[in-house]
Amino acid sequence: MKLNNIYNENCLDTMKLFKNNFVDMILTSPPYDDLRNYNGYDFQFEKIVKELYRILKIGGVIIWVVGDKTDNGSETLTSFKQALFFKKIGFNVHDTMIYYKNNPMPTAGKRYHQHFEYIFAFSKGKPSVFNPITESTKYRGIANMKNRGKTGNIDYKKIERTKEKKVGNVFFYSVGGGISTKDKIAYKHPAIFPEQLAIDQIKTWTNENDLIYDPFIGSGTTAKIAQIFNRKWIGSEISKEYTKIANERLKKYFKKNLFL
Ligand SMILES: C[S@@+](CC[C@H](N)C(=O)[O-])C[C@H]1O[C@@H](n2cnc3c(N)ncnc32)[C@H](O)[C@@H]1O
Repeated sequence: MKLNNIYNENCLDTMKLFKNNFVDMILTSPPYDDLRNYNGYDFQFEKIVKELYRILKIGGVIIWVVGDKTDNGSETLTSFKQALFFKKIGFNVHDTMIYYKNNPMPTAGKRYHQHFEYIFAFSKGKPSVFNPITESTKYRGIANMKNRGKTGNIDYKKIERTKEKKVGNVFFYSVGGGISTKDKIAYKHPAIFPEQLAIDQIKTWTNENDLIYDPFIGSGTTAKIAQIFNRKWIGSEISKEYTKIANERLKKYFKKNLFL
């Protein structure tokens, strides 16, 4: 089996090659609600998710970036139906995070502009890696239950003094031409996610040399970021055209092909 490689096929075929408990993390954005007309669309959701559960290591995390279409006046809620299925087959819904687009495409009609998608973190057991992104704290302290007395009030003297705290679970990204990535070729794909999203999630849930799988790799964003941050990766992409685009994009980031 080839590492650091995109398999140009249905992800269900690629996953047949994987042993149980094989990958450390899965980072992906599925083809949802036929919002885009991808070439070679074939999305057997339930079958795929069961396979993802099988191949993910215990303690591994899936990052599933997804939004909903509005159809006949109503949001489809596909994202939540999917999340419920992940939970049903054994994943923990570890966190429902928000991918907030600072500059979305303006939308017409009697609705506010659609500014966000979900970033679900589904875990197989308790996540074994968590390298949180931090920011400096204004008040230089973290309050937790230990700091609370019998009254429930915080005892500020007991607060652990820190200079940094974990960021919140809303992630703000500017998107679009020249911003999501500097690689012009990537925009030949209609639905890339921003590189910074991949950087944040990969660094949070993996360590160097871990193996990341993206079953719907599109223009190759997951691969590029994994490669740059010294993670191993495998991708699947059903469309020949997008696989070509991704391989062309990735050329300059390649160090070497690894084999397992
Ligand atoms: C939302 S896009 C992913 C974009 C990617 N995150 C990026 O940054 O470029 C989903 C991709 O899944 C591919 N796809 C759809 N069904 C598939 C399947 N069964 N197996 C593999 N790829 C599939 C589509 O062709 C499309 O490129």
